[in-house]
Amino acid sequence: MGLTSSARANSISTPATSATSSHFSTPTPSRQPTPPPQPQSSPAQPTMTDETKGNAALDRSFLDANVDELLHQMTIDEKISLLAGKNWWETTSISRLNVPSVKVTDGPNGARGASFFKMTKASAIPSATCLASSFSTDLISEAGGLLAEEAKARGAVCLLAPTINIQRSPLGGRAFESFSEDPTLSGRIASAYIHGLQSAGVSACVKHFVGNDQEHERNGEDSVIGDRALREVYLRPFQIAQREAEPWALMTAYNKVNGTHVSENKALLQDLLRKEWGYDGLVMSDWYGTYSVSESIEAGLSLEMPGPTIWRQPRMLNHLIMSHKLDPRAIDARAHEVLAWAQKLARLNPDIVYAVPTPERTRDSADERASDAKLLRRLAGEGVVLLKNDGVLPIREGRVAVIGPNAKTRVISGGGSAALRPLWSVNAWEGMVENKPNNVELSYSLGLQGAKFLPMLDECFTTIDGKRGFDLLHYSIDANGEVAHEPTVVDTHDVSDMFLADFRHPRLGQHYVSEVRAKFTSPITGRYEFGLTVTGQGWLYIDDELVIDNATKQTLGSKFFGNGTIEEKGRVAVEKGKTYTLRVVHDSRRLVSRTVAGTPFIVKGIRIGAFPLVDAHQAMEDAVKAARAADSVVLVAGLNADYESEGFDRPTLGLPLASDELITRVAEANPNTVVVVQAGSAVSMPWADKVAGIIQAWYGGNEAGNGIADVVYGIRNPSGRLPLSFPKRESDIAAALNFKSARTKVHYSEGIWVGYKHHNARGIEPLFPFGRGLSYTSFKYSGLAINVKKGDEWTAAGRVTVTNTGQVAGDHSVHFYTAPPPESPTGLRHPEVSLQAFAKVYDLAPGKSTTVEVKLDKYAISHWDEYDSTWKVEVGEWALKVGEDAQTMVAEVPFTIDNEMAWTKL
Ligand code: BGC
Repeated sequence: MGLTSSARANSISTPATSATSSHFSTPTPSRQPTPPPQPQSSPAQPTMTDETKGNAALDRSFLDANVDELLHQMTIDEKISLLAGKNWWETTSISRLNVPSVKVTDGPNGARGASFFKMTKASAIPSATCLASSFSTDLISEAGGLLAEEAKARGAVCLLAPTINIQRSPLGGRAFESFSEDPTLSGRIASAYIHGLQSAGVSACVKHFVGNDQEHERNGEDSVIGDRALREVYLRPFQIAQREAEPWALMTAYNKVNGTHVSENKALLQDLLRKEWGYDGLVMSDWYGTYSVSESIEAGLSLEMPGPTIWRQPRMLNHLIMSHKLDPRAIDARAHEVLAWAQKLARLNPDIVYAVPTPERTRDSADERASDAKLLRRLAGEGVVLLKNDGVLPIREGRVAVIGPNAKTRVISGGGSAALRPLWSVNAWEGMVENKPNNVELSYSLGLQGAKFLPMLDECFTTIDGKRGFDLLHYSIDANGEVAHEPTVVDTHDVSDMFLADFRHPRLGQHYVSEVRAKFTSPITGRYEFGLTVTGQGWLYIDDELVIDNATKQTLGSKFFGNGTIEEKGRVAVEKGKTYTLRVVHDSRRLVSRTVAGTPFIVKGIRIGAFPLVDAHQAMEDAVKAARAADSVVLVAGLNADYESEGFDRPTLGLPLASDELITRVAEANPNTVVVVQAGSAVSMPWADKVAGIIQAWYGGNEAGNGIADVVYGIRNPSGRLPLSFPKRESDIAAALNFKSARTKVHYSEGIWVGYKHHNARGIEPLFPFGRGLSYTSFKYSGLAINVKKGDEWTAAGRVTVTNTGQVAGDHSVHFYTAPPPESPTGLRHPEVSLQAFAKVYDLAPGKSTTVEVKLDKYAISHWDEYDSTWKVEVGEWALKVGEDAQTMVAEVPFTIDNEMAWTKL
């Protein structure tokens, strides 16, 4: 074995840059790969103490208790204790009064469970954009039902979801986690999701209320939003959710809105949410998103999360009560909200709540897995959007070259708190192989190593005694900074992306040294590349020779919520079949020079990657050659959780590295090239005119690959339609000039002109418009009609007949828009058209017709009047239209609004 970088070292003396000590030596590496001691009980699971025996020790009197009487029996300190979590995921219990804690879990595309480090294996539904593309409330309700079962299997009775912020810009780091740029679509899909969850007894927690539409400086930025845009665009999904599904919990956003942090914003939490909308559920803060004591309590923030509390210390609150700064009735009100919510959930799920804390379960029985897989496959496939098809799709025969950085990668979801460990996963290549028609012959070529990080350690790596994964040892550091020679914790693990957010051990203290040991049997002769990303300081050795020093010089990156370095790489010459020892040492102490801004999470993490060194030029040439030799190409490119994540926004719409070049060259080599894009939001496609087909597959969850294959092979006739506009350039995005926090403020100067409303008003041609989505058949509309109902409140029914005019059966969602009078009596400008309703037909046979009907309410014709602070309508000639997409209306029918209307309530 030869080294291409750095020195030989058996033990490490860190330079005097170490954060808390000037010198220490790491454990001496084992020269011979000797099996370490057997794993002790998993360090991620806390040991049972009386305190953590938790709810099992309580009687169930809480189920029948009268909450007012219960509050009456409580001491002030007991009431105060209810106002913050007990730990990261649970509310506080009061054993004297048999009040149980309840457990919550993230959200939104699955139920991760309590640990970021040792995630419980889960069923991952597709990203929110994929769900919204289905335009099917029934399907999303079903997904909510599945998520409820997933949450319960983790012992949780509240899922921190759905995320219903608006895609003000597709560059938002969490755009993949939010449904749409359109408030009606967001609100309706969210309502279906909430309905699915709550009808199975699990509380939704809609988030993040409101104006958290980007990640940059999310805790401190002030979203400056005019009243009209706030009401019509950003609050609207929350309002629809409240009207249609009544979520039992709501999470406040990190940011300020118009000068005040939402978690202490009385105008939003009390005046609007509770008084105007009649919301009677629980309001919890985002994690470390509480920033005050009495202000947040009086504004209506029921629960500070996570616990233990920073702000709601009994001593502090008693002091404020004594000094008449805080009204004790506000404490009663907040405690009442927590108790009523906990009681509702305990009544619905007594066996789950009274078992907490309990080991988390993966729903992996044959039945569970079969029914989940079926629904997940449908979700992944029904959200796929066919953006372009020159006749190359569906592919049913011939030699197909599968190419691309994402083809064999497990791309499940975006990153951050949405991250999950899937119980199983099907990548695009596996989906293409598994579902291949007989006359199709497949080949594979990488084309480009397109990821931000090298792939995680795979089956070429084992523990020293040959088991799956690797050994993981943790050593304590004493007060003098000396690292112990013997490990405190001996464990094994099998995911080399380790976010140690919740890893604690009583004998390790705040800082410690971790060591990874593995045997590596090389699958190639050539050069292997290793990558190391750390929060503290790290060193990677192969056969005791230092290959990566990620300590002496470090560059901060986006990993681990902004606490991690970029990936440092090193290369090693290897021989096929030969076994080497991999050893990584991580010192959790940070370099003094490394400051982390913009995140409340100060966490530890280690990520190790490894992959045969890719010769970029050769990889591309090979792909072009493979394309030339094939009848058609399916090129799978896109982003992944490392590019699109909570914690940071995307810098550009572009695909990473040389993806665009690869696609262009492959398309030149083969005119039948179909590009499958895996990305949670819009990406730019400078090659769109050069390729024969484009499929937007989003992040498809466990069944991503099957969802893609279903559409590629025509097993499923695609019916997904874009829930957001795909702009041609960053400068075409309405928020382009005011997206990031500028000296703490984000000015929403584009007002209500978001997404397609902006494109339509300014005549900006998008790459693909909102609502775009092709099918393998065609549909025509006829008989569009609107029937305005008589009654106190304006309501109407819209109706249209859909006919399948093509050759194959298909599903189709029908999109109804309203258009205001061309001359507005108030002089206000309104969007030319705005989506107000949609309905989906399934399995419509060729030549067959069916009629869909949708309900429209007063909001379909409303706008927010900033002068009078009410909802109002424009009097005059309106139209109901059906859109092929937001730019192309294909049918319309007029209706008249004769009378002025105004209202403020829900
Ligand atoms: C996110 C929330 C999430 C919470 C708990 C926060 O960083 O903004 O969406 O539910 O963490 O993980």
